[in-house]
Amino acid sequence: MVIIHYFKLLAMFLVTSILLTSAFSAAHSKNPSASSSIEHRVDSLLTMMTLEEKLGQLNQLSGRWDEKYITAEDSEMIKQGRIGSFLNVAGATNTRKVQELAMKSSRLRIPLLFGMDVVHGFRTIFPIPLAESCTWDPVAVQQTARVAAIEASASGIHWTFAPMVDIARDPRWGRIAEGSGEDPCLGAVMAAARVRGFQGDDWRDPSTIFSCAKHFAAYGASEAGRDYNSVDVSERTLREVYLPPFKAAVDAGSVSLMASFNEIAGVPSTANHWLLTGLLRGEWGFKGFVVSDWNSVAELQAHGLAASRSEAAILALQAGTDMDMVSRIYQNELVTMVCENRVSEDLVNQAVRRVLRAKFVLGLFDNPYRNSNPAREQSVILSKPHVDLARHVAQKSIVLLKNDKNLLPLSKTLKTIAVLGPLAEDKIAPLGPWAGAGRPEDVVTVLEGIKSKVSPQTRILYAKGCNVNDDSMGGIVEAKNVAQQAEVVILVVGEDAGMCGEGACRSRLDLPGVQNELVKTIVETGKPVVMILMNGRPLIITWAAEHVPAILETWFLGIQHGHAAADVLFGDVNPAGKLPVTFPRAVGQIPLYYNHKSTGRPYVDDNTSTSKYLDISNSPLYPFGYGLSYTTFSYSDLLLSNSRIKANDSLRVSIEVTNTGKVKGDEIVQLYVQDEFGSVTRPVKELKDFRRITLNVGEKRNVEFTLTSAQLAFHGRDMNFAVEPGTFKVFVGTNSAELLETRFEVVE
Ligand code: NOJ
Repeated sequence: MVIIHYFKLLAMFLVTSILLTSAFSAAHSKNPSASSSIEHRVDSLLTMMTLEEKLGQLNQLSGRWDEKYITAEDSEMIKQGRIGSFLNVAGATNTRKVQELAMKSSRLRIPLLFGMDVVHGFRTIFPIPLAESCTWDPVAVQQTARVAAIEASASGIHWTFAPMVDIARDPRWGRIAEGSGEDPCLGAVMAAARVRGFQGDDWRDPSTIFSCAKHFAAYGASEAGRDYNSVDVSERTLREVYLPPFKAAVDAGSVSLMASFNEIAGVPSTANHWLLTGLLRGEWGFKGFVVSDWNSVAELQAHGLAASRSEAAILALQAGTDMDMVSRIYQNELVTMVCENRVSEDLVNQAVRRVLRAKFVLGLFDNPYRNSNPAREQSVILSKPHVDLARHVAQKSIVLLKNDKNLLPLSKTLKTIAVLGPLAEDKIAPLGPWAGAGRPEDVVTVLEGIKSKVSPQTRILYAKGCNVNDDSMGGIVEAKNVAQQAEVVILVVGEDAGMCGEGACRSRLDLPGVQNELVKTIVETGKPVVMILMNGRPLIITWAAEHVPAILETWFLGIQHGHAAADVLFGDVNPAGKLPVTFPRAVGQIPLYYNHKSTGRPYVDDNTSTSKYLDISNSPLYPFGYGLSYTTFSYSDLLLSNSRIKANDSLRVSIEVTNTGKVKGDEIVQLYVQDEFGSVTRPVKELKDFRRITLNVGEKRNVEFTLTSAQLAFHGRDMNFAVEPGTFKVFVGTNSAELLETRFEVVE
């Protein structure tokens, strides 16, 4: 046990009164270490703390899921200063009551930090992150994160465990839904946008909440797409594919990061000193704090890294994991470990300092109840502008995958429409995984959206057809009968929200249950069919892609799902979303991603021995960046400012894009580069930039990009990040497979 020295006690009384009475006056720099006055306060407070209280700051516990409140034991621990943070305690009233325990009954009155998974909205639920990435619109994505922060903060939350920025190339992995897809460039742009949205630009603004970029790192590379599984990637792939979104989040000022569950080449992230300290703090200059994932400190034993709980505590702390989420290991083990000199108190102090600094930065010592405001909670939650934004971003997230003979958009005055499928009336699925405080009653279903869109004379018939994921065929006949009475069928199929997200991986990716049978039966009626997909990952829809005339990928779009889908179905909105992830033809092709290597025997579709399968082409069903519109765009005049540049020069790339169709539309213009020959092999192409533009009918626009040396550089044979002389291809176009192409050279 640590004995509090008399002078420490004296100092404590003096400094506590200063801390509690003085106004927080630090400049609101995004760098939580920037203010010397905060540093001074942290140091002063630290001198007053017992070791138990210090470890309390590193201890995060969960509230009771059902009540978003705490247990009697937790209350006692708060009073003893043995808890620094909660997750899953929410609501202005609940958080105030819990905060009061810390502020009125604990010795040092250190405020608690309330965290929660506010991943795609708090109560106003927006599209899942994978869907939002289809907008390729960082401004829209920043806005939804801002609104999520406004609502969550009014409900007592200080900190969200988001953005989830894991690059995912394997759709079997259920958590692909939570991130921005397969590409590091798009992923980095979205990561930064979300951090900016959550954290705003003023720490003192009560709607500012801390972000937490997760899961650091390479969690999306879990072998076989199985959650929590091992990862073994080269440092180059780590740096070039998996780390860029984290770097972008850190550069955008994310105050925290979450260590991932997985190991990388034998070292679980929670105990990875190279990752959490060498790279993150040393190389990147990160000044915030790192939280473990749920129980991941304890799981170091199951990994086979730590032989005991105390060893797990030491390894995690030494690596740079500052806060322990729910395993209570720091709290229970580290006092003894410090007293036995198995780990230094300095290391504990360093972690405590990082956590306290964040609490000071947010102004919690001045106003511990800043985020527990029932009046604000009442007025902002589900406010009209928030719901309008949910609809707007949901519209932008929809991807038109197929539209034979311009079946879409539909007329609003059709006589009879059959709306079929197990998800047409579903109020839970559109919320997707990690739906925060979202509620089914807030959701507009596809059926409701369609009903509110069509003319009063249009008859809407409905049949469910089957369930999402069982084998009962009973309803299919009824659905067929209903289809036969209609001019057009809208068939809403896919996954329910529980089929993706954490721990929800799948080995088969076709439509679950008997939905394929439903789709085939309905297509056989000969009626024009529009298939609406609702899902959290690319599905294998090879049969449908061939036989169903129109397909809309709507993912899980949040509370305005039904309205947004109807807006697109009936042409009030021209879809422009593009896929942030490749759609394979078969599970056996996975991992399938556009920025692959060439290999020594690049794929040729003949009977020679090249890198391929005997039974299927290498090509995807839908490539990365793909998405149709109700209009058409043509690309021409791909020009470079120079055909030769020096390694540190930049290059301007321009292209003419014309709306050649009959309606106004948005196009997402994509720029890719290939370094043709390097000291190490390079991907066949890599996204470097993009632009979302709006063009009126017949309008032509010159779109210009600047390629910088940072965009042309890579980690060479010696792992140096540099531009290597040689030839490069530049591609610009509408998706990763349909591109105009030119070349330039980098000279010494
Ligand atoms: C485990 C998940 O991996 C993580 O993403 C989440 O933030 C925590 N649980 C807290 O809910």
